[in-house]
Amino acid sequence: MALEAEPLHPLFGARLKGVNLRDALTDGEVAEIVAALDRFAVCAVGHDRPLSNEDLIAFAARLGPMDAGRSPKITGTGIRIPHNEITDQSNLDQDGAIYAEGDRRLLFKRANRLWHTDMSFRQVRATYSLLASHEIPPTGGNTEFADMRAAYDALDDAMKKRIEGLVAEHCYWHSRSLGGGPDPTDEERAGRPPAYHRLVHVHPGSGRKVLYIASHIAGIPGWPDDEARALIEELTAFATRPEFVFSYEWSVGDVVIWDNLATMHRATPFDDTRYKRDMRRATCRETPVHS
Ligand code: OGA
Ligand code: MN
Repeated sequence: MALEAEPLHPLFGARLKGVNLRDALTDGEVAEIVAALDRFAVCAVGHDRPLSNEDLIAFAARLGPMDAGRSPKITGTGIRIPHNEITDQSNLDQDGAIYAEGDRRLLFKRANRLWHTDMSFRQVRATYSLLASHEIPPTGGNTEFADMRAAYDALDDAMKKRIEGLVAEHCYWHSRSLGGGPDPTDEERAGRPPAYHRLVHVHPGSGRKVLYIASHIAGIPGWPDDEARALIEELTAFATRPEFVFSYEWSVGDVVIWDNLATMHRATPFDDTRYKRDMRRATCRETPVHS
């Protein structure tokens, strides 16, 4: 494999050439991809047609323990993709039809338009997300990424000192509510309790310090809510300044792998009650999780 990385932005992001994620890759080839991820944090790989669910799962399993917990179902809905390892990020119901305006799943998924990192609301965090594109709308629906290593580096010393050692509470339902979603049922809420993580961590692969924030942050234990939210808003606004961000325009067959411990991302709008957007995500976790 002659892996070639073509940068997508001056700070981070690359398109990987010379690799097909459907192939049976050697450990050395996977290590080259991980090295590219440690450097670029977001890597896109194009294919002539969408990866099958099985191919996506098989490659993702090479990057670490996989998330395989069936997300608690949204009350009264069925499942389109029958693999516990895949999170359905489409706007499609179990029959492949576009959700009706007002469908609870659509309303909850619109929270993906807020800057976030995946599964920070779990105590065992997501490491890599691998999003495979099967169908895209004619316009809109890019995904934007922000480099949280570069953002941390650029903070002034006073802010670095202020946030060092602080822990934040991350809760899935907080971002659903910020995103305009309906109130969860008691059962939905109980299925996703909050998790607690430091605002600054050292990335295990690159050794770089990273600002670890997300729209899932509901507060900082011991702080008044308004002060905590003001700090998180200030950090989010700083970290998503244009110099730290690029927008990825999808093609069918792409797999974009991002490092949740080094970046934030967000979906951007498209006409989601008119066009299909079929995206399927496999996710790796810090350590194996059986749930
Ligand atoms: C995700 C996500 C954004 C998008 O899959 O975790 O946030 O553009 N996706 O679909
Ligand atoms: Mn996401």
